[in-house]
Amino acid sequence: KDHKVDLTFDAGNTGPVIDKDIYGQFAEHLGRGIYEGVWVGEDSDIPNTRGFRNDVLNALRDIEVPLVRWPGGCFADEYHWREGIGPRDERPVKVNTHWGGVEEPNTFGTHEFFEFVELLGADAYVNGNLGSGSVQEMAEWLEYMTGEKGSTLAQERRKNGREEPFEIAYFGIGNEAWGCGGNMRPEYYSDLYRQYATFLKAPEGNMPKLVASGGHSEDTTWTDVLSKNIEQKIDGISYHYYTLPNSDWDNKGRAINFSETDWFNTMDRTYKIDDYIEANLKVLEKNDPEGDIKFYVDEWGTWYDPEPERDPGFLYQQNTLRDAVVAAVNFNIFHKYAERVTMTNIAQMVNVLQAMILTDKEKMVLTPTYHTYGMYKVFQDATSIPFKLKTPDYKNGDKRVPAVTASVARGTDGKLYLALVNMDPKNGADIDLDIDGVKAKRAEGQILTAEAMDARNTFDAPATLEPKAFSADLDELRIPAKSVVVVELK
Ligand code: AHR
Repeated sequence: KDHKVDLTFDAGNTGPVIDKDIYGQFAEHLGRGIYEGVWVGEDSDIPNTRGFRNDVLNALRDIEVPLVRWPGGCFADEYHWREGIGPRDERPVKVNTHWGGVEEPNTFGTHEFFEFVELLGADAYVNGNLGSGSVQEMAEWLEYMTGEKGSTLAQERRKNGREEPFEIAYFGIGNEAWGCGGNMRPEYYSDLYRQYATFLKAPEGNMPKLVASGGHSEDTTWTDVLSKNIEQKIDGISYHYYTLPNSDWDNKGRAINFSETDWFNTMDRTYKIDDYIEANLKVLEKNDPEGDIKFYVDEWGTWYDPEPERDPGFLYQQNTLRDAVVAAVNFNIFHKYAERVTMTNIAQMVNVLQAMILTDKEKMVLTPTYHTYGMYKVFQDATSIPFKLKTPDYKNGDKRVPAVTASVARGTDGKLYLALVNMDPKNGADIDLDIDGVKAKRAEGQILTAEAMDARNTFDAPATLEPKAFSADLDELRIPAKSVVVVELK
């Protein structure tokens, strides 16, 4: 039985701009995320541009990735930037202690990262090492990257092949300081942040936004303490939230072959981020009523049990229609809070957790999550339009989530866009639209849906789940069960 959903808005009203950086990606030195996934080296048989896989570059360009965060994650707080510059064959080999204990050749370092984002046309988010580094090391890294004059560090960068300074959009001062980044308390971390931020300097016009490492899940303490204690430059507080179907780190749930209860639990867990963001933003509104400190969800996505035959330290997982729906639900929530939530990074870009792309040697597959990013790219820098949504719930026992969530915005191309997600895997939804301020009759765009909840793309069948054309008269707008729809209203 179809849900009856009412959606009302006035196209003449405007909300905040949806910052394109909400569509950011996260690329950590983890498993096959960087090595194999992005970097194969110039001598590889896999077609590449100066060592970067062409297929991956092209696919990422197509979804217009605006921002990439690197080198971690937990890896960031053990990363020493000097080990990743200079001739590649002279760089030290380290052990990646967090992720599988594998050798880290340091082949992909600062210059390779910037070359990669420049090839993508994306901005850079560099995460500094607070946990095991020093103030001097972090300050020197920033000088190395941004120095304009003749300082020895700027000259060293030039000697390593880069004349012009690199441009850094965001710089993170540590990562998950409450955990792998040093097991600190927020008071201690905020004091360290004050110290580190004091010494991070860059030429005018090239000073990145500074990111303080904040809390996770339902916690608001980190947001509270950091926004109260830090008086130095702070552009945003980071926040991490992962969707674990079973909310149990020892038994997270399966990536494929799951039940409808697993599907529901995944929707329920992912939808929690709405309340968690709201709670954190309330704290920020109290401590920073001017709205100077943004809230960056710089790690989010699904996290399932590792596939049995793979290295559990590599966090490789399959990606299904369920992940595509999760991504769209999160986008709709981020849009709702677009005033403060101006940047997010899904974890992670290639071969790790809720990835856009999976690779197997020369093969590449685009995941359902990738396609959701492609469909939603019209929302990058779009102006949100406030709306009212009345939707029945999708229920399981005494738990419930709204069946349908939505976004409405005016794109940078001047067109009016509507996104709809139906979380219910069994029932479709009839959408009764009541629009003021514009005469629209038709919805035209794309839909992502399938029969199976765990429909997916594989290396043998890479085009199983792809967006299809979708169009409807507005007085007959219906979306099927478990679907993501993005349309222009015209
Ligand atoms: O994305 C994987 C890991 O999850 C990151 O390294 C860390 O920050 C988080 O705990």
